Amino acid sequence: MTDVLGRRGNLPAETSTFMGRAEDLAEVGRLLREESLVTLTGVAGVGKTRLALKVAGERSDGAWLADLSAERNGALLAHTIGAAIGLKEQAARPQEDVLAEHLSGRRMLLILDTCEHLIGPCRALVGQILRAAPDVRVLATSREPLGLPGERVHTVRPLPVTEEDCDAVRLFRERARAVRPGFECSDAVVRLCGRLDGVPLALELAARRLRALTAGELLDRIDDRFSLLAGGGRTARHRTLRTAVGWSHELCTPEERLLWARLSVFGGTFGAEAAADVCSDEQLVNVPDLLARLVDKSVVIRHGQRFRMLDMMRDYGREWLHVLGEERLLARRHREHSLALRRGMRHPRRRDVGDPARRPESSRPHPGPGH
Ligand SMILES: Nc1ncnc2c1ncn2[C@@H]1O[C@H](COP(=O)(O)OP(=O)(O)O)[C@@H](O)[C@H]1O
Ligand SMILES: [Mg+2]
Repeated sequence: MTDVLGRRGNLPAETSTFMGRAEDLAEVGRLLREESLVTLTGVAGVGKTRLALKVAGERSDGAWLADLSAERNGALLAHTIGAAIGLKEQAARPQEDVLAEHLSGRRMLLILDTCEHLIGPCRALVGQILRAAPDVRVLATSREPLGLPGERVHTVRPLPVTEEDCDAVRLFRERARAVRPGFECSDAVVRLCGRLDGVPLALELAARRLRALTAGELLDRIDDRFSLLAGGGRTARHRTLRTAVGWSHELCTPEERLLWARLSVFGGTFGAEAAADVCSDEQLVNVPDLLARLVDKSVVIRHGQRFRMLDMMRDYGREWLHVLGEERLLARRHREHSLALRRGMRHPRRRDVGDPARRPESSRPHPGPGH
């Protein structure tokens, strides 16, 4: 398989305009010159796959894409990657060995797209490939790093939303014009893009709703974003905002989900101590560790010493808190925490053990709200 420039590869052609990301492109290009494995992390729908394809499209050597999203447990990982690069199966030998041998001595970029549900298998196989094939570069996309030595992680952030000419609003306008030719942006659009956190997937889904609604109407209904942004997309995982975020939820442990739900009581940014004070009890004893894991999994964003959740993640957490029946309890804890802080106490909240009858429910695995 070769593309129009005669490079070997299997990259899909770009079918929509690519917006912004000049700094990300430069940075990822630089990282790939320095290290063999670069992982793009970030929240659902933020543009990891799109950025990886753009990076690959700008390279002069061959680039291959292996989409791992349909891979269930990693048992067929080497087969999936082999099939993507056009490698024949050899029944007599483990496919991992066949793949590593095939790649040794080759110079190419291999994109492993959507690794977050296969972290362990990906780590093992990428390790084997890179040992055998020093000229291969692997660009992984994952909500969480693979955890290999030498791995360079680049976090893909939402597109900035500042004014009418920012990348998020331009993306919204582009997609809006596909359904409403001549669409022009207004203040309501800028506010809408802000409420959508500048996440490209959410922007695209919202723009599609302009067939039936105005930007102002979308803004009025944004509190119900998961119902609003349920229009049919191309791939199953991205069909709705709920499936995109729900997929992250499924990949969390019950304790991580519980913390995600409880953190939804914080409106803006919060510190680790506040999170521990409001969210800890005997069900969640190690909030700082869990918080770090939620950062690793792109559920929570770290800004220096502070933390924040995108609105879509917070809204999902809030729904989950409702399912758990903990809304009032957490609202009270949050209020007590804020009051005590104002009175100048440092670790204010009285330890509240909650209702023991409810406890087993939140530690039981559950697919998440709306499933
Ligand atoms: N910089 C961008 N410019 C234009 N469209 C983008 C950009 N980033 C993402 N998109 C679009 O937004 C949607 C979600 O992006 P995707 O890369 O699939 O997210 P992720 O892999 O992080 O879940 C896709 O339809 C993609 O084409
Ligand atoms: Mg992706």
